[in-house]
Amino acid sequence: MPRLPTVEEVWPTVPRTRRRSLSEWKRLNREIERCRRCPLGSLRQHVVIHRGSLRPRVLFVGEAPGASEDRVGVPFVGVAGKRLDQLVSRLGLLESEFAVVNVIKCHPPANRFSDEAARACRPFLARQVEFLQPIMIVPLGVSALSAFRPDLLPISHAAGWLSRWRGLLFFPMIHPAAAARSTALRRRWEHDGKSLSKVLSRLGAVGNPGSIPRPGASV
Ligand code: URA
Repeated sequence: MPRLPTVEEVWPTVPRTRRRSLSEWKRLNREIERCRRCPLGSLRQHVVIHRGSLRPRVLFVGEAPGASEDRVGVPFVGVAGKRLDQLVSRLGLLESEFAVVNVIKCHPPANRFSDEAARACRPFLARQVEFLQPIMIVPLGVSALSAFRPDLLPISHAAGWLSRWRGLLFFPMIHPAAAARSTALRRRWEHDGKSLSKVLSRLGAVGNPGSIPRPGASV
């Protein structure tokens, strides 16, 4: 693992200063809900936008909603979501400290990741990151990694390694669904989860709500 930056080195470079209003977030969500930029917009039951804090320290970015997410309109509520929830709880992240979004906002048939949808959704993802202003991004799986740093591919090399992306900390992991595919992948998921836990503890970024403003306030 590369040398871990100190808190002093990291925090001042993180762009967490822009004031944002809840109405800006609501406007973005309305735009995503109305989107028909690709064919998935007319196939979905629900658009799947976000869950968690509006002022997260850690932003998990998945690939695309599955059928369970399509039914309820919330990211990671199915089997992969249970594994992600277990990780979040092992990390000790409070509700106010993390959020979850996806690269693609609508369920692709047969769970086939669509580059066309990813391209159409890319501006929404960028605006979500800009609004949420996390300290760390954790892309889950190859398609989430390549939405930010295709230069780090393949995921088998990048997962579990700390780097930077635009002044933010960047810690890719394999997709939680992949962890169910073999013992080796499950061990990789668990191993990388432990590395992430060490990184967050050294930053003092978990279990410590500090000055995080309440969701709903002008942040
Ligand atoms: N897999 C994802 O990548 N995202 C979800 O929301 C659910 C499963």
